[in-house]
Amino acid sequence: MRLRKSLAVLVATLATTFTFAQCDDEHEDPPVNWGVLLFPTFEALDVFGPLEALNLLSLTVPLNLSLISRTLDPVSTKPRAMTTPSNFSESILPTHTFSNPPPDLEVLLVPGGLGTRAPDLQAEVGFIRDTYPQLKYLITVCTGAWLAANAGVLDGRNATTNKKAWAGRPVNNTVNWITHARWVVDDNIWTSSGISAGIDATLAFVEEIYGEELATDVANSMEYERHTNATWDPFAELYGLA
Ligand SMILES: *[C@@H]1O[C@H](CO)[C@@H](O)[C@H](O)[C@H]1NC(C)=O
Ligand SMILES: *[C@@H]1O[C@H](CO)[C@@H](O)[C@H](O)[C@H]1NC(C)=O
Ligand SMILES: *[C@@H]1O[C@H](CO)[C@@H](O)[C@H](O)[C@H]1NC(C)=O
Ligand SMILES: *[C@@H]1O[C@H](CO)[C@@H](O)[C@H](O)[C@H]1NC(C)=O
Ligand SMILES: *[C@@H]1O[C@H](CO)[C@@H](O)[C@H](O)[C@H]1NC(C)=O
Repeated sequence: MRLRKSLAVLVATLATTFTFAQCDDEHEDPPVNWGVLLFPTFEALDVFGPLEALNLLSLTVPLNLSLISRTLDPVSTKPRAMTTPSNFSESILPTHTFSNPPPDLEVLLVPGGLGTRAPDLQAEVGFIRDTYPQLKYLITVCTGAWLAANAGVLDGRNATTNKKAWAGRPVNNTVNWITHARWVVDDNIWTSSGISAGIDATLAFVEEIYGEELATDVANSMEYERHTNATWDPFAELYGLA
């Protein structure tokens, strides 16, 4: 039993090493032009967790960032479809629109948030559908995976999403939703679990593209303790998905 387990671990390790070796070859040309899709009531940390890591990365590695939305108006985290006892939100200014997107976009990051429940996200979903074929990578955080699913780009793929919001996800049997995952990689699509998981997925992405040393350096600069195991997921159990 123990031998079988060690063999399984060895095979898994070899598989990982092999994947990394393969990827290293691809990454002689690392992606430079990043975009973040913004919609009303996006989740702040879904955007700023990954961007924090990438801001630090951009100090030593050439990166371009575009913030893409329907219009150039400020996009707010303010809840749209519910009343709250608060005036509590923050806004961010887009740099590009869906109809005038940045040229040569290579990585698109799609955040989640309460705004992904809105019924009028055809423009956002259409932008993901139209842009995906030109991308090197698509990364979703939290319920951003719902938008990618609606765009059809997760058809036949493994993906994950926010565990608390799981029961409310759009029923879409074309996606192999992985219940127990901090993040999931399927070909060039990275989907992460809820909110803070976007930081771990981004750091894992940085590790895959630029190597472990730089990913660790970024995490240490953030004084952030990474989860490096993609299957670490106490929230699947917490929300009854295991
Ligand atoms: C970054 O974006 C600017 C403006 O679009 C462009 O001129 C420049 O070539 C880009 N840098 C890289 C490294 O692609
Ligand atoms: C929120 O701001 C509006 C005006 O913008 C004000 O009428 C309202 O009282 C404020 N609510 C709270 C809870 O402060
Ligand atoms: C499921 O995915 C397809 C794309 O393959 C999309 O057209 C459809 O709207 C999705 N259904 C739901 C309920 O999200
Ligand atoms: C997708 O997930 C299944 C487990 O549900 C796994 O067996 C398979 O290898 C995964 N495929 C990819 C491409 O990661
Ligand atoms: C990753 O996490 C899973 C689930 O928590 C665990 O079973 C597995 O042993 C972990 N793998 C490593 C390499 O630590």
